[in-house]
Amino acid sequence: MSGKLIVFEGVEGCGKTTQLQRCQEWLVGQDSPEWFQRFAISLVVTREPGGTQLGCELRQLLCEDNKALSDSAELLLYAADRAQHVKEVLKPQLASGAIILCDRYTDSTIAYQGYGRGLSLSLIDQLNSIATGGLESNLTLWLDVDVEVGLARTKNRGRLDRIEQANLEFHQRVQWGYTELAKAYPQRIVQVDSSGSVENVQQQIRLVLSQHFSQWYPD
Ligand SMILES: Nc1ncnc2c1ncn2[C@@H]1O[C@H](COP(=O)(O)OP(=O)(O)OP(=O)(O)O)[C@@H](O)[C@H]1O
Ligand SMILES: [Mg+2]
Repeated sequence: MSGKLIVFEGVEGCGKTTQLQRCQEWLVGQDSPEWFQRFAISLVVTREPGGTQLGCELRQLLCEDNKALSDSAELLLYAADRAQHVKEVLKPQLASGAIILCDRYTDSTIAYQGYGRGLSLSLIDQLNSIATGGLESNLTLWLDVDVEVGLARTKNRGRLDRIEQANLEFHQRVQWGYTELAKAYPQRIVQVDSSGSVENVQQQIRLVLSQHFSQWYPD
């Protein structure tokens, strides 16, 4: 049985990491749904950048304050992180039947480096193909929240990293990118209203996951 790749996407502070952790707790915790136990599916939690040893080093470079990093260099570092992650983690885990919860994937590069920084979308598609070897997510949860609401949440969290410090217009272009992606790939991307409480968003996600799992693993 091949596994499934479930990706969490959206602007800064939309709740990706929070919701991914909540999903992990749900799937392997006391309230683990019956269908998850029935198929004894293993769960892998990972992220981009930083899902491998090399990726952790690249993540540090990418998140460092005041680092002189050109837009193309940034794009290539993300691509290098993804190439390693796909080969070392995603493909082998999917081959062994795991369910993978991944914090960001290819759509982040399209939204941030493409729509946000203005780099060529067709070039990014090519780079994504090289890095992924064609591996697409089975389901991408787009946690949709107003950019300003998301940024306000991250400010409460503490110091802003390099990308978070970029101006508001940048983040609005990123949001536009996610909107366009959701329109272009409705079979893969599910929009989740993330303006509500953590609990409310988690309930919506559980519903989407339950529906998808029953299609993926019918009785
Ligand atoms: N629905 C919510 N309502 C209010 N606060 C939230 C909600 N979801 C997450 N938060 C809080 O907002 C902050 C950002 O959440 P989180 O780190 O999960 O977002 P993220 O999408 O992973 O952000 P980043 O893109 O920076 O990694 C955290 O302090 C978190 O506790
Ligand atoms: Mg996060």
